[in-house]
Amino acid sequence: MENKLDLNSPYEMDFSAIVKVQAPATVANMVCGFDILGFAVNEPYDQMQIRFQEKPGITIINDDDYNLPTDPEKNVAGAALLAMMEELPSNIGFELTIKKLIKPGSGVGSSAASSAGAVAAANRLLHHCFSKQDLVRFAMNGEKVASGVKHADNIAPCIYGGVTLIRSIFPLDIVALTAPPLFVTIVHPQIEVKTSDARSILQQKVLLKDAIKQWGNIAGLVAGLLQSDYALIGRSLEDVLIEPVRSILIPGFDQIKAQSKEAGALGGGISGSGPSIFMLSETEATAQKVAGVMHQIYNNLKLDHHTYVTTINHSGVRFVDSFITEDAAL
Ligand code: HSE
Repeated sequence: MENKLDLNSPYEMDFSAIVKVQAPATVANMVCGFDILGFAVNEPYDQMQIRFQEKPGITIINDDDYNLPTDPEKNVAGAALLAMMEELPSNIGFELTIKKLIKPGSGVGSSAASSAGAVAAANRLLHHCFSKQDLVRFAMNGEKVASGVKHADNIAPCIYGGVTLIRSIFPLDIVALTAPPLFVTIVHPQIEVKTSDARSILQQKVLLKDAIKQWGNIAGLVAGLLQSDYALIGRSLEDVLIEPVRSILIPGFDQIKAQSKEAGALGGGISGSGPSIFMLSETEATAQKVAGVMHQIYNNLKLDHHTYVTTINHSGVRFVDSFITEDAAL
């Protein structure tokens, strides 16, 4: 890919410029679309700020209690910025401050929010010299640090907003999908599931009869979204490949899924690699009822948890003038 700044010329940096962003949480897979479907939500989100620094390289400042690495090669946002800097003149340096409000390991794209937020913010400092697809390409390097594999089903919706289909990753082919209004209920049981662990337990081979069911559901879900057919969306939110294996890592999963649907949810399942569970509903009232169901089940299991009722975020990473700092982490 051709870079848009001349690598051999020093870049004129405006040291007074500061860019602040909110990088949204995302729900990857959308049940049947492992590694190829995802959507962004309006809450929760990470807050980040970037500016140029005098010395080349990256300085990372963590403004939260998660103790994440500040070595750029080990930090997901740092890894994403390093990939971007390979296509920039060598005199450029960034200082990045991260306030994570999306708990790492929660299954709602915490690492993607850091990676995508960092490169989107840097791109604004650079007068948007890179395309959204370039930003996804850079940010996937953060996912590699987090889970050992480059996948874009959290990164793409975080950058583009809305629902995205990753038709291909090498080369990148991202399709932004339209969707009818949907309410999203998310519950995060306070346990941690590492994406790398949740990937390592998956079977590498699938039966043709299972693949056929999965293709039917993915195609049905995409058609349901494009045609605003809520019943078709609901019928298609089934996964015969990944959920049966991963759901055993999540206490109360089957009960939450069954009772949420009884309460009126269209359907749902594991958010990304878990442990969060998400459900989609046609109305806010149903989404609130579903949150009550989830709350009750985890109270009975005596498991700490947080619930969110939110909507699909259509803008992706947002540029803001100032931060609201008091949000609770998911
Ligand atoms: N598609 C990825 C997985 C998403 O399920 O492993 C991780 O958030």
